[in-house]
Amino acid sequence: MKILVTGGAGFLGARLIEALLAPTANDLLPAGGTIVSADLAPCPVDDPRVVSHTGDVSDPAFIASLIDPSTTLVYHLAAVVSGQAEADFDLGMRVNFDATRTLLEACRQQAQTPRFVFASSLAVFGGPMPEQVPESLAPLPQSSYGAQKAMAELLINDYSRKGFVDGRVCRLPTISVRPGKPNAAASSFASGILREPLSGEASNCPVPLDTRLWLSSPQTVIDNLLHAARLDGQALGLRRTLNLPGISVRVSEMLDSLARVGGDAARARVGFEPDERVQRIVCSWPGDFDIERPLQLGFRVDADFDSVVKAHQRDMNR
Ligand SMILES: NC(=O)c1ccc[n+]([C@@H]2O[C@H](COP(=O)([O-])OP(=O)(O)OC[C@H]3O[C@@H](n4cnc5c(N)ncnc54)[C@H](O)[C@@H]3O)[C@@H](O)[C@H]2O)c1
Repeated sequence: MKILVTGGAGFLGARLIEALLAPTANDLLPAGGTIVSADLAPCPVDDPRVVSHTGDVSDPAFIASLIDPSTTLVYHLAAVVSGQAEADFDLGMRVNFDATRTLLEACRQQAQTPRFVFASSLAVFGGPMPEQVPESLAPLPQSSYGAQKAMAELLINDYSRKGFVDGRVCRLPTISVRPGKPNAAASSFASGILREPLSGEASNCPVPLDTRLWLSSPQTVIDNLLHAARLDGQALGLRRTLNLPGISVRVSEMLDSLARVGGDAARARVGFEPDERVQRIVCSWPGDFDIERPLQLGFRVDADFDSVVKAHQRDMNR
């Protein structure tokens, strides 16, 4: 059997592949199984069970080469992130939407219906919203990235209703603290204002201090992506889309955590230069969700933001 991970060279994709290779994920990847990573870049995970295919998921011939009757599970993570999709509409449409449709069609051609886990985003929401977003709130994206994710979600729901795939749409919270370098996501600062000061570097906070963010640690998101694949499709019924659990934290509270974990010197490394482009996107996102259903379904949530920052600090020191 084969698991396909698109975006397998990316931040989450590579971590997900590592998690799938662990003995605790033997139910998803039994002995003899392989993982196919499909990405513009080679998969960094070095393991004989991982086959790395480099190519562009918006190329239908590349997609066709990735799926065969042994593909039982697809994780579709390859995407152009929010800032880039806003700056280049055509690229965002091609990678975030057209490629998703092509991939779903390739799955549809298989005799055995693959499970299909899609990484969507809270960026599908926008406009007038209650303080806490209920399970039933309709998407109203305020960015091209959010619109492309929302369109892909609708497709996955319909392909699941028709029995073409067994889909699970995971709307990921903003991930903090993301290790490495800043990226082109509008929410990049949500990691930068912790990561850089903890490494002794200056960082800028481009949004008001009272901005509320919906956050998850990388480890919790990976655990929840594994859980999504394990769920019985019957338990989801026609509601294939899930707002993954996160914690609701104001930027000021994130900086309080930084001071508690990293000290006042780390906190003092954060500057405040507003960025209208970032604010337009990030401040349109919801900062709190009703997560009763995902918790009932067994998804995990981080305990609090201090523990998230401490976990990042432990990883830094490894
Ligand atoms: N990190 C977050 O906070 C967050 C939040 C919500 C949703 N998501 C979603 O999770 C998924 C993974 O995010 P990430 O943080 O790992 O991003 P990432 O940018 O690290 O990884 C995305 C990967 O997709 C690959 N890719 C881009 N265009 C491609 C193309 N045309 N063909 C093949 N591969 C291509 C990139 O090379 C990259 O390795 C994405 O779908 C993203 O939209 C992430």
